[in-house]
Amino acid sequence: MHVYEKRRDIVSNVATLLKEQKTIGFVPTMGALHQGHIALVERAVKENEEVIVSIFINPTQFNNSEDLVNYPRTLESDITLLSQVSTNIIVFTPTPKEVYGDKMQSTNYNFEGLENEMEGKFRPGHFNGVGTVLKHLFDIVSPTKAYFGEKDFQQLQIVKKLVEIEKMSVQVIGCPIFREESGLALSSRNKRLDKEQLEASPLIYNTLSQVKKKFGTKSVIELNEWVSEQFKNNEILKLEYFEIAKISDLKSVKRKQKDTKYRAFIAVFAGKIRLIDNIALN
Ligand code: PAJ
Repeated sequence: MHVYEKRRDIVSNVATLLKEQKTIGFVPTMGALHQGHIALVERAVKENEEVIVSIFINPTQFNNSEDLVNYPRTLESDITLLSQVSTNIIVFTPTPKEVYGDKMQSTNYNFEGLENEMEGKFRPGHFNGVGTVLKHLFDIVSPTKAYFGEKDFQQLQIVKKLVEIEKMSVQVIGCPIFREESGLALSSRNKRLDKEQLEASPLIYNTLSQVKKKFGTKSVIELNEWVSEQFKNNEILKLEYFEIAKISDLKSVKRKQKDTKYRAFIAVFAGKIRLIDNIALN
């Protein structure tokens, strides 16, 4: 494995790869890797001559300092997992200073409104942090293709917009959500769930699956009511939001229109742990 902490080491490696005209696949992560991340890495390995994975818990995208402090850190096992995919992977594990220099600041982006919906509403500043760190990382890594999970569907759409705004040449690839057998979408935050919370958690995906089934016959208003009902008396899972939104602009809708693609989005708290999920409806 090639593990580098210094920006200059990655930059000089990348310069060599570019000189050799190698294609570079990039998978940015915050570590605590699980099979969802690994699926992205495997796809990157398949589609590119070289693969770089970054592991960096980006402070500027956390609007909640407790969440940042409690974010799981498992570097050693992350590197073991990656080496099981390929020992040729280049791993970048920078400190904030290596990424940001002396000024750890977010750029204020206008993602044409995508940043104001759902996660943007509930996590102010989050997408400016994501956009800023990815601009820095893309500049360092010069990827041909970069891989993102549909688990964070809003983030995926925002990254596509970022690439357009910053006129970067990277191709952004969206990959399907990887789930536990129970339906729970894999997430680094799942490691913090206790037994009771873990047992309650399949309700999130079960609810989304039912919404997908009912989507053809029920109105959006009926579906919204039905979802609130599912969580109403739940002592363990607290619904933060449920929305049916258009894929094109992520605006939530009150009624369906013809020839429009929709997705359902959900955020739930299990104690202090926030879980998100989404599903394509048509
Ligand atoms: P992180 O949460 O570590 O996720 C890294 C990538 O893995 C993201 O593209 C995310 O969507 C994807 N991913 C996570 N769980 C997944 C699952 N169950 N199935 C499929 N893909 C999954 O997202 C971030 O980090 C950060 O915001 C980052 C993009 C690295 C910027 O800091």
